Amino acid sequence: MELQYTKYQNNIYFDNAATTFPKPSSVIEAVINYMTKVGANPGRSGHKMAMESGQIIFKARKNISRFFGVKNPMNVIFGFNATDSLNLAIKGVLTHGDHVITSSMEHNSVIRPLKRLEQDGIITLTILEGNEQGVLSTDDLGTAIKQETKAIIINHMSNVTGIVQPIKVIGEFCREKGIVFIVDCAQSAGIIPIDLNEDNIDIIAFAGHKGLYGPTGTGGMVISDSFNGNKIRSLKEGGTGSLSDKIIQPDFLPDKLESGTLNVAGIAGLSKGIEYISSLTNGVNSILDHKKELQEYFISTAEKEIERFRSYSPKDVPGVVSFRVGNISVSEITDRLSEEFGIMSRQGLHCSPLAHQRIGTFPEGTVRFGFSIFNTVSEIDQTVEALRTIRGRI
Ligand code: ALA
Repeated sequence: MELQYTKYQNNIYFDNAATTFPKPSSVIEAVINYMTKVGANPGRSGHKMAMESGQIIFKARKNISRFFGVKNPMNVIFGFNATDSLNLAIKGVLTHGDHVITSSMEHNSVIRPLKRLEQDGIITLTILEGNEQGVLSTDDLGTAIKQETKAIIINHMSNVTGIVQPIKVIGEFCREKGIVFIVDCAQSAGIIPIDLNEDNIDIIAFAGHKGLYGPTGTGGMVISDSFNGNKIRSLKEGGTGSLSDKIIQPDFLPDKLESGTLNVAGIAGLSKGIEYISSLTNGVNSILDHKKELQEYFISTAEKEIERFRSYSPKDVPGVVSFRVGNISVSEITDRLSEEFGIMSRQGLHCSPLAHQRIGTFPEGTVRFGFSIFNTVSEIDQTVEALRTIRGRI
């Protein structure tokens, strides 16, 4: 199929940390194939179209579980996005009297559900500042831990600066202390290799529409083979297509935690997004290397060419670049980039006020670029030139 990205074809898209664009053609073909040829509800009726729909879902579970180093495909619980799945992980695991440790680099998708539970008097919460970049150490965790600490919940890769938390080491700490380890992989999935067993993680939440190149409205939770997923309470109950004679929710995964018809079109696309990443020469590492190269190139070039350019992201992280140019308002920069030069980026606080407080950019925030596998060095050259022009005019 010939892809037609007509409307925004000539623009430069650097807002990939919010949602990747464009998507691989196989992702779009899978959505269209489901919508035009399969169409039916998975796991409900017994006819052959319903069976094919069910197979699409099962294949996606297998692709996702394998991608994150988990053997049991039934440990993949589909949701709408990372926020949805973080709410399930957080509210499904924590109970009255639990203490939770988190970091100052969290997105509101972690902080807000935790604050809700804290306000309701259900949990107590410790937010650790970490080092000057917000990175946690096991020493920090050691001082915060209490008898009643049930879980450590952290963002793997910051959506503000791109810094990466040492999850394997934190996971080891959690294993030793018998603490549940939940990781928000919204930004890192598809960019950094993640293996729940090797990284000692109990539960991850991921977004389908960012680094995994799937459609919006997809995401989920993956539970490690060694964690008893039945301990997670459901936040919603309803039709599962299984045990229909019973009026209580099934107690097995994924049905216990997945009620109602799934987003089959989206999941079909997500499955192909993961296959696309796996088909690259070095899989996720190909993306990691490409993003690191662009990140390093953009920061070095901008530092040389743009007066008073300041990056808040280290050069060697693969995630995002947050920056400011002198005192120019971040909205002015992103508006001009979009309207005058066709360059898409995101400004402000990125739903992460704590992280901006930690790095000293609250309340104005920063301009943020997030590169994808489809971005090029030439696009960065054009963008640096555009920023120089904006800088020169103000
Ligand atoms: N959480 C997404 C972002 O960082 C939407 O932009």
